[in-house]
Amino acid sequence: MWDIILECIRAVVIALILFYIWKIGKNRGLNRQKGWGFIIYGWLFVLFGSVLDITDNFESLNWLIIIGDTETEAFLEKFVGFLIGYILLFIGFLFWLPAGVKKVENLKNDFVSTVSHELRTPLTSIYGAIKIVTSGVLGEIPDRAQATLEIALRNSDRLTALVNDILDMDKLENNGMELFLKPHDIVKLVSEAVEANKHYDNKKDIHYNFEPKSVSGIVNVDSDRFNQVMNNLLSNAAKFSKPNGVVKLEITANNGFFRISVIDNGNGIEEEFLPYVFQKFSQARKTENHMGGTGLGLAISKELVEKMGGRIGFTTTVGVETIFYFELPKYPN
Ligand SMILES: Nc1ncnc2c1ncn2[C@@H]1O[C@H](COP(=O)(O)OP(=O)(O)OP(=O)(O)O)[C@@H](O)[C@H]1O
Ligand SMILES: [Mg+2]
Repeated sequence: MWDIILECIRAVVIALILFYIWKIGKNRGLNRQKGWGFIIYGWLFVLFGSVLDITDNFESLNWLIIIGDTETEAFLEKFVGFLIGYILLFIGFLFWLPAGVKKVENLKNDFVSTVSHELRTPLTSIYGAIKIVTSGVLGEIPDRAQATLEIALRNSDRLTALVNDILDMDKLENNGMELFLKPHDIVKLVSEAVEANKHYDNKKDIHYNFEPKSVSGIVNVDSDRFNQVMNNLLSNAAKFSKPNGVVKLEITANNGFFRISVIDNGNGIEEEFLPYVFQKFSQARKTENHMGGTGLGLAISKELVEKMGGRIGFTTTVGVETIFYFELPKYPN
């Protein structure tokens, strides 16, 4: 008797789950999604197996199934009903898995961007306060305290840069970044970016070498965002160059595009890291610990260049040179 009750409960639960999935699936338009068909058929097979199973325990129901308690029924129940049913269900859920993972990923991204947003204001004021104290305008500071304050200043600067990068990436991924495109002289833009990045020279005595040759023209870009891309390419070239290296810049023109190339004679990029260069938070293992940065620079640069109608790429020869370039359409095109 208990067997029958349990079998009935199982059949009802299966039917309810089937109905529930069908209902949410319908409301969310899931019917067309891959996996949905597998899940429906999977549950139907399992249900079929269950019904056969119930009749095993309930003699008077055998007329309904006709087959009776035979090997054919056992085959249909265990093999066709349960085994095929569960395999189909499993395949269906596998298809649904990416959608679930994406949902979790979205939740994580929302969390990271909210936290970053909340961090930005207090961080900016901490940075400002330390800067005022280190500048000495509030009074003389002992040498040892000065050194400690400078470390705090550098780290709060790094943290602010990281928070800003995370917020930029978030905006770019969610189409929330507005670009203010205006026509600009390409040579002037590049010269100004090189000038603004000169401070990198001091660290490893790296020199930027930009000789605007005969190329000239206009590009329609957001100058702040253009600078953001240039800053990242120039700082990368300096970071990954050998001491006293020279980073060369070139502008070339072809097929309606200007190509800006940043060429360094550093160690290059190992083959196994090539697919990850433009991925968020990716840094080659060899460099990540001592070079600083977060690995967001190139992911942001790629999005920005593409939003301005261009494309970004690189070529590298290990131990010889790396060329990062980006192309922007000539204006008017
Ligand atoms: N010119 C280069 N030479 C060698 N490796 C490079 C070069 N440019 C980028 N890379 C590799 O690509 C990784 C990603 O670069 P990306 O600019 O995205 O991050 P980052 O410079 O490490 O940090 P961030 O730009 O966020 O401060 C770098 O960590 C480095 O491993
Ligand atoms: Mg970088």
